[in-house]
Amino acid sequence: MDINSIKEAIKTNVYHIHPDLKVPYHEHGTQDEIFYCIKGSGLGIVDGKEVELNVGDVLVAPAGSMHTLKTDGDLYVTAILIPVNRIICQCKQVSYADIRMAMVNGARTVEDIQEMTGAGTECGNCLGDIKKILALACSCKMITMDTVINAINDGADTVEKLGELTGAGTDCGNCKLLLQKMIDTKR
Ligand code: FES
Ligand code: FES
Repeated sequence: MDINSIKEAIKTNVYHIHPDLKVPYHEHGTQDEIFYCIKGSGLGIVDGKEVELNVGDVLVAPAGSMHTLKTDGDLYVTAILIPVNRIICQCKQVSYADIRMAMVNGARTVEDIQEMTGAGTECGNCLGDIKKILALACSCKMITMDTVINAINDGADTVEKLGELTGAGTDCGNCKLLLQKMIDTKR
């Protein structure tokens, strides 16, 4: 990746969190997310650990960690999404992106992943993470493969329609290639 591609891949948002806004507990498989509290106060939760956020505080949600924000008042944060390619299988040096690409190419079971990438074929410590990755079509919105298949069977024949029906693909967009493949192959 050259510097311009890296710049283009980094996304910045500003969010206003308030008591009526429920931010779903979610993860980003291929991005670290850094939150900076601009105004107000609230709580950040990363993998079950609560961190108080006041003006000037920073919270990091590493790729693959479950996280959310909440407040009883008002919380304004800027959120920076930075692309990373974390290694899921240390023994075979297989990354999250490798496993997702295998899914785009048809892998749906742990055995498929083992055959196509080699991940999970030594100590087995990564098998839990592989199962977790296989279960989700869209990690940003926590939309399962089963939910997407059901929507396709109910007539969603474009990625846009899947987004409208399920929410899949409506955040970072990294899952859109997989969603398109699922529509094409109906699996
Ligand atoms: S970490 Fe994947 S097989 Fe050991
Ligand atoms: S993984 Fe980000 S929108 Fe689906």
